[in-house]
Amino acid sequence: MWRRRPRLRYFPHGTSRVLAFATSTGVQKIEAAEWHVLPSNLGREATVRILFIGDIFGRPGRTIVQERLSELVKEHRIDLIIANGENSAAGFGITPALAEELFDLGVEVITTGNHVWDKREIMEYFQMSNGNPHSPARRLLRPANYPPGMPGTGLYQGKKGDVPYAVMNLQGRVFMAPIDDPFRLADQLLKEVTAKIILVDMHAEATSEKMSMGWYLDGRVTAMVGTHTHIPTADERVLPKGTAYITDVGMTGPYDSVIGVKKEMIMERFLTSMPTRFEPATGDVRLCAVVIDCDEATGRARSIERLMVQ
Ligand SMILES: [Fe+2]
Ligand SMILES: [Fe+2]
Repeated sequence: MWRRRPRLRYFPHGTSRVLAFATSTGVQKIEAAEWHVLPSNLGREATVRILFIGDIFGRPGRTIVQERLSELVKEHRIDLIIANGENSAAGFGITPALAEELFDLGVEVITTGNHVWDKREIMEYFQMSNGNPHSPARRLLRPANYPPGMPGTGLYQGKKGDVPYAVMNLQGRVFMAPIDDPFRLADQLLKEVTAKIILVDMHAEATSEKMSMGWYLDGRVTAMVGTHTHIPTADERVLPKGTAYITDVGMTGPYDSVIGVKKEMIMERFLTSMPTRFEPATGDVRLCAVVIDCDEATGRARSIERLMVQ
């Protein structure tokens, strides 16, 4: 359930107690005897805490999410869970059953990327929302800047409790398939968004393209998180106009690997330039995510924290 967390401090003051709370003009203090006249929402800061989980890779990634998610939610007081699931199915794509499995765990919206079409049955799943704007099928996204007419959509607008939020999925074009311009499409989609809290998953290879998108969206979205490289970057920060940013959240899956795949297979490809099979690795499984703390009223981020759980 969505919670509004009070930021109140109680401390002894002589024989009485004083309630201190922050206002726009500074800290105000009220004696305990007067507490009964306080409005119920006084001093409450409407805080929303978002957990974004990086590319979930194969069974190892799904298992660590299953095992660790509830404790992460509790420990970090999470309100809203969003995850990139493009590699959930043995590293390549996502199936309807695996999407439902993630929704059942409490993930509200699943983003994807260039692997979205790897399992063809997902194309039909995208059609299964049957006009229901909040069905699980509607809460699975694919990059919005794919050519018009493709199954699925790249923007979801929903509510958690009574708080509206939006999630946008974009894909980069540097060292990737030449799709539509994600920058101008973001402008266009933002015109449709009514929520203050907006998270953008920018699924891209080049750090420069992701960072440019972060600056481009600064002050217009709550957070822009990068995915796709499966390598977490240590550059998380809140940009000057209030957008939380990280170039790449990193993979949730086996790190005894080359970006999730058995390392021998990838090394062989580099050594021989021959086509090789790819199989998911299994060892050194980690969950990579970020926690974004933001203000419900303005949609501005207060902080972004990078997590790597083993
Ligand atoms: Fe990925
Ligand atoms: Fe990707």
